[in-house]
Amino acid sequence: MTSNAGDNAALSVALVGFGTVGRAVARILCNGAHRRLQLTHICNRGIARKKADWVPDGVTWTEDIDVVLGSDADIVVELIGGLEPATDWIRRALEAGKSVVTANKQVIAQGGAELAALARRHEVQLGFEAAVAGGIPIIHGLRQGLAGDRLFRVLAILNGTCNYILTRMEAGGVAFDAALREAQDLGYAEADPSADVDGQDAQAKLAILSAVGLRCPIAPESIPLHTITTVDAIDFVYARRLGCTIRQVSRAQRSADGRVCAGVQPMLVPRSSALARVNGSRNIVVVEGERGGETAFSGHGAGGDPTAVAVVSDLEAVAAAPAGGADNLLDGAAVPVAEAFESAHYVRFMVNDRPGIVAALAGVFARHGLNLDSVLQDPGGRKQQLAFVMTLDPCDSGIVNAALRDAAALDFHARPPLWMPVLA
Ligand SMILES: NC(=O)c1ccc[n+]([C@@H]2O[C@H](COP(=O)([O-])OP(=O)(O)OC[C@H]3O[C@@H](n4cnc5c(N)ncnc54)[C@H](OP(=O)(O)O)[C@@H]3O)[C@@H](O)[C@H]2O)c1
Repeated sequence: MTSNAGDNAALSVALVGFGTVGRAVARILCNGAHRRLQLTHICNRGIARKKADWVPDGVTWTEDIDVVLGSDADIVVELIGGLEPATDWIRRALEAGKSVVTANKQVIAQGGAELAALARRHEVQLGFEAAVAGGIPIIHGLRQGLAGDRLFRVLAILNGTCNYILTRMEAGGVAFDAALREAQDLGYAEADPSADVDGQDAQAKLAILSAVGLRCPIAPESIPLHTITTVDAIDFVYARRLGCTIRQVSRAQRSADGRVCAGVQPMLVPRSSALARVNGSRNIVVVEGERGGETAFSGHGAGGDPTAVAVVSDLEAVAAAPAGGADNLLDGAAVPVAEAFESAHYVRFMVNDRPGIVAALAGVFARHGLNLDSVLQDPGGRKQQLAFVMTLDPCDSGIVNAALRDAAALDFHARPPLWMPVLA
């Protein structure tokens, strides 16, 4: 190592992964404003095509991770993404006595506790601010800013791609596929958008927030997911009539008896709520504590520059305290997760019309003890693929699902019903 805690010498930084975020981090480190940090290595496969003339001459370019691990770099910044070889490289960097900063949500959600323990054993740091909500300082906010409270709820918009698609569907009255294509054309969505729209991306981030914020570690794959691909333009019309819009919401809640409910799904959110006001690719995290009440963190959840700001902030935190080891916020055995949130519900049916449909569905709900709050249907609509909505009084989402399984057996559906909770 080139320096120790208390030294004034800069810490040397090795960047592993020179893509969107890696380049933006290098730009910040090369602009001279961060005197405690010096970029010394850039590692990427096919390195020849990656070289940039604005990087100082003294920086070593390599495609061999062993050159980085065998160097005297103090901090390794992992920005290649994916589970492997990223996890292996982080593990080896920590074992080599180097602090690690990563933006990798999958690595931290799956193996963060083990890596943090390794960092503690080697008395180095593990920073992962950029792994959740890009440029929003949510990990530092929870770790330091709200350490004095006991949080019991996290409510968040964690996926900018979904938020862009849903806000476009709302503003332009366009179908899901058209909004997705637009997001892809603008670079907001991948060619394969499934991890975003089906919820796995937000799932990993929510697992990290549950561990750090609620002190409830949960296995990411145990968080129930519901895709946004089933949301239709007509749902925004009915949502508006109910004073709401639609967002992909990630939520986790710890109850007094230690049970954890969590889920990632499209939800109706009141237009007056903070979540409804988050437009385009932005993110928001709202946490609720026993003493401090509600606190909201909002900003750019992705993008090279905002994410690089989070990475460099982690680097500065390491520079301020390079030794001492990572904290234990990710520790503990994973607790089981239920989806049993209590709320009002929106159910949209798409049917081939005939007499008796509303009565049949009301009968199914009644048999499950569910009370209808309203029935919404435009007069004079077409008879094929007719969309109408039933809203239900607050109840457990498990009961709604059971009722909808029964309702699915009825023979008038043109498409499966869409069920969304309504945020109180
Ligand atoms: N972009 C964002 O807005 C954002 C926001 C928050 C968090 N993150 C996270 O930040 C990390 C980096 O994302 P990114 O958007 O910068 O990705 P990216 O643009 O795809 O960059 C990844 C870089 O790593 C290189 N790479 C990938 N696998 C490698 C391997 N096995 N060996 C050597 N080099 C390898 C890639 O090389 P090639 O050029 O050959 O592909 C590329 O240069 C990911 O964990 C991501 O989830 C990104």
